[in-house]
Amino acid sequence: MIVLDRLTKEYVVGGAASRVLDDVSLTVERGEIAAVVGPSGAGKSTLAKCINLLERPTSGRVLVDGVELSALRGRALRRSRHSIGTIFQGASLLRRRTAADNVALPLDYFGVTPADRHRRVAEVLELVGLSDKAAAYPAQLSGGQQQRVGIARALALRPGILLADEATSGLDPDTTASILGLLRDLRDELDLTVILITHEMDVVRDAADTVWRLESGRVAESGPLTAILADAGSRLRGQLLPHRPAAAGDEGVRTWQLSYGADLVPADWLLRVADEVDARIGLLGATVESVHGRLAGRVTVAFPGDLPEGRIHAALGRVGLTGQPTLVPSAQAELPERASA
Ligand SMILES: Nc1ncnc2c1ncn2[C@@H]1O[C@H](COP(=O)(O)OP(=O)(O)O)[C@@H](O)[C@H]1O
Ligand SMILES: [Mg+2]
Repeated sequence: MIVLDRLTKEYVVGGAASRVLDDVSLTVERGEIAAVVGPSGAGKSTLAKCINLLERPTSGRVLVDGVELSALRGRALRRSRHSIGTIFQGASLLRRRTAADNVALPLDYFGVTPADRHRRVAEVLELVGLSDKAAAYPAQLSGGQQQRVGIARALALRPGILLADEATSGLDPDTTASILGLLRDLRDELDLTVILITHEMDVVRDAADTVWRLESGRVAESGPLTAILADAGSRLRGQLLPHRPAAAGDEGVRTWQLSYGADLVPADWLLRVADEVDARIGLLGATVESVHGRLAGRVTVAFPGDLPEGRIHAALGRVGLTGQPTLVPSAQAELPERASA
């Protein structure tokens, strides 16, 4: 478990103090994956550096399992830092070292015996599924494999906490998904506490149990992901379930924005609605997410433009959907040959 207690960080730039973190308090329980999100410049990386004490907070405390890391210095601090493994953007591996030697860097630094070094490296490479790549150099590995090596290196000193600052930035969506899957598996297997710092909303949706949104160095919003997705007033919810406007144009077609209620909507709603209004319906875009077994999201569909609104509302109501026509006419909205779900 990690606790940040009223953390403040000021940098002095040109003689003037600028406050980058302002009274940030945050708790992440053991076994929990917490995402810290926010726009560029919000203070996320500064927060990461204060958590692993690469930067000293101006005020406030960092506690790991009750130990106040921020009060330690020198040797005691270096030893306690073992409890936090850090994963960096783009893995940042040493080019001239093999995967195994990259993973061993923290072990070398702390001077473990060669036998322990060998055993530990084999163990963590297996955890990330790269046992067969121990002798490979970074240039011989894909971006995803390099980041797996980065994760293995972060695990080398058996930390209870994994801290990742933009660990999946720059990776393609499939590789991102596999890295997030790995982090979830590692959390389950090792009961890790994971802090994912990211500006990518897909990462939050796919992996986070709880979310903290930073804005100008302050916590602007926080809570369990499921609670945020259920909160219609949440700014974060809007970012997690973006409204994808349909493009402009086609005469004879009217786009509607539907809200997908939790649990109640039958899987074949599209067919049922098409049947009810006796017309073809185009599915233009959807962000329907299953979050911890509950559905939440928005759907954009196209109805024939001459269909009375009242009939559409009635048909939607029967399957537990609500909706309204979008103001902008849709573009490239073509109705399918027949309704399909
Ligand atoms: N070492 C530093 N000295 C002075 N200002 C800094 C330093 N590091 C970061 N900042 C400033 O702090 C703010 C937050 O930066 P950062 O923590 O990197 O944000 P994020 O990771 O959310 O993009 C920015 O305005 C940045 O310019
Ligand atoms: Mg950053």
